Amino acid sequence: MRTVHSILAAFVLIALAMVVFNAVMSLKRDEQFKNGDRKLGLIAFILSHTQFLIGLITYYVSPWYKTLKNVGMGKAMKDADVRLFTVEHPLIMILAIVLITIGWSKHKKATDDKAKYKKFIVFYGIAFVLILSRIPWSQWFH
Ligand code: HEM
Repeated sequence: MRTVHSILAAFVLIALAMVVFNAVMSLKRDEQFKNGDRKLGLIAFILSHTQFLIGLITYYVSPWYKTLKNVGMGKAMKDADVRLFTVEHPLIMILAIVLITIGWSKHKKATDDKAKYKKFIVFYGIAFVLILSRIPWSQWFH
């Protein structure tokens, strides 16, 4: 499960970066919002939601959760590693996925092409930065 979570994470990052980059470039070029733009947003949406579900399973089967149960929340919060994996990473990732969901629904409601691109830039963009901030870089692919 951890391997799946670890590989899918790379696809989530690539997809989000593509959505934001594409939206910024299209906005600059004053382009029309096309089906391809929508599909790219949808792919990032689906990938991140799948990653969330796999993350939930990863959480409960991971040694970090066992540690949390053993030492208790108070002590867990005092250890940077335990805190990252049991609290910060899951919470921030969930927040990022909520933002992606809001961005997706707001882009659908927007009628103006520019506004659609802007929703992707703001919501997917913030989610991207949040995700980058809480990836366990030192452990990933080691
Ligand atoms: C967009 C969402 C997410 C991304 C991009 C992401 C990314 C990652 C990455 C890159 C790792 C390191 C994997 C490795 O060690 O090779 C990881 C580990 C982990 N993630 Fe996530 N994650 C996301 C969401 C979540 C969520 C929502 C949860 C829990 C509810 C979660 C729980 C965990 C846990 C427990 C680990 C540590 C696994 C272990 O060391 O045994 N993740 N995540």
